[in-house]
Order: sequence, then structure tokens, then C-alpha cells
Amino acid sequence: MLSFKIGLLTIGLITISLFGGTSGRQPEPASSSGEPRQRSSEGLAAWQQVYSVMTHPRCINCHTAGSYPQQGDDRHRHLFNVVRGPAGNGVPGLQCVTCHQGANADTTGVPGGHDWHLAPLSMKWQDTSDGILSSPAVCSVITDRSKNGNRDGAALLKHNEEEPLILWAWNPGRRADGSLRTPPPITHDEFVAATRKWVEAGMPCPQQ
Ligand code: HEC
Ligand code: HEC
Repeated sequence: MLSFKIGLLTIGLITISLFGGTSGRQPEPASSSGEPRQRSSEGLAAWQQVYSVMTHPRCINCHTAGSYPQQGDDRHRHLFNVVRGPAGNGVPGLQCVTCHQGANADTTGVPGGHDWHLAPLSMKWQDTSDGILSSPAVCSVITDRSKNGNRDGAALLKHNEEEPLILWAWNPGRRADGSLRTPPPITHDEFVAATRKWVEAGMPCPQQ
């Protein structure tokens, strides 16, 4: 009887080790050229470019994990004690759009864009100490449709191509002292091309 139970246990463990560890992994993208490894490494290189933009201060200052947006290249906590509020657009009396208009206000140094508000917490790319999440971690949240606003690859590409808050990052206006804010490290065209390459490669993510 005992050995029968041990036998069942062993089968159970084998089943877990065979199938348990594979959930959540991306399958190797199929390739008609028969070079899945090469395609995957090109896809991963494209992802690294996408990641370098997403984690630039112009983007990640709105993709925070805490109760506040950040400002500047040093990503300090937003002035005036501005808080996220229940929907990411502030609280009554201190809403984002009270100060952030539809366009940059370069005389006062307030950046602006359509419907300015924080990304929801499910789209955070930082930890709660304001540290930037690793490339595998950001890749895993952005490809998770339960967290990314139910977007597939085509929808992510469209977002990166057309979303006004993304376009703002390449036209971020002037700080209060009159100096220009820095844009992300590559052009918007290069960012869209890298996103397309990554999506076409099956959205591969680097290993944790
Ligand atoms: C009382 C006015 C005011 C309110 C309300 C306000 N902001 Fe700001 N915000 C500013 C000013 C001024 C700046 C520019 C500061 C600077 O460049 O040093 C700024 C800058 C920012 C930046 C930095 C841009 C960058 O990349 O450096 C972000 C992001 C931001 N605000 C998000 C928000 C969000 C989200 C809300 C609502 C939850 C909000 N703000 C509410 C005045 C405000
Ligand atoms: C002013 C705040 C703000 C800025 C700046 C901003 N975002 Fe966002 N982002 C948002 C909000 C709000 C959403 C949620 C919109 C929705 O789901 O419709 C979002 C959603 C996204 C998404 C959808 C999927 C997901 O899981 O996050 C992507 C991708 C994205 N942003 C990329 C960027 C990139 C890249 C930049 C910089 C080039 C950027 N964002 C700058 C506020 C911002």
C-alpha cells in the first residue's frame, strides 16, 4: 500500500516537472526560413531598443508603481504633492488637467498633451521604491493581456505608433528655466520600427 502511494507520488512529481515549469514561457516563434534562433535574437535586440525608450524618464515618469507621478530626468517625485487618485488623473481640486493642458505651455514649463494622466498600476514599469524594473520583468508585463489593457501585438504597435502621450515624448517642450526636455534615446520612427520587428518576431522576452 505504502509503495503504491509512493509510486503515485513519483508519477505526480514527474508530471509536475514535465509540464509545471513551462507555463508562461513564450513558444519559440515559428519560422519559414528555418532560422528560429536568428529571428529570436533579432527580436530580442529589437525588444532591447523598445525597452530603452519605455524606461526613459519621458515615458516612465507616468508609468510609476506608487501614488504619484515623477518629474525630470532624475525622476523625482512630482511637486505640489500631486497624487495619482483613483483613476490616475488626480483628485478633485488637484487634477492633472488643471495644470496640464492639451499642449506644452512653454512659458510656464508645464508639459501638455491629450488627456494627460498616469498609466494604471497594472502598467507600472517600476517597483515601489521607484527602481526601474528589469528588461525581462517589463517585457513580461507588457505582453500580459490581463495587465496591458488587453492589447495583442498589433494593438501595442498601433499604440506606440499613434498614441498622443507617446508622441509627446519626442516633443516634450521646455522646462520652467527655458531649457528643452530631453527626448528618448532613439527617434520615434526607430522606436516604431523596433516595435514592429519585435512583434513580428513573436514578442520574445529575455530570460529572467
Ligand atoms: C499644480 C499643477 C500641476 C498638477 C495638478 C499636475 N502637474 Fe504634472 N507638472 C506640473 C509642472 C509645473 C511640471 C513641470 C515640472 C518640471 O519640468 O520641472 C509637471 C511635470 C509633470 C511630469 C514630468 C514630465 C517629465 O517627463 O519630466 C509628469 C509626468 C507629470 N507632471 C504628470 C502629472 C500627472 C499624472 C498629474 C495628475 C495626477 C499631474 N502631473 C498634475 C504641474 C502640475
Ligand atoms: C502623461 C503620462 C504618460 C506618458 C508621458 C506616457 N504614457 Fe504610456 N500610458 C499612459 C496611460 C494613461 C496609459 C493607459 C492608456 C490606455 O490603456 O488606454 C498608457 C499606456 C501605455 C502602453 C500600453 C500597454 C502597457 O502595458 O503599458 C504603452 C505600450 C505605453 N503606454 C508606452 C509608453 C511609452 C513608450 C511612452 C514614452 C514614449 C509613454 N508610454 C509615455 C500614460 C503615459
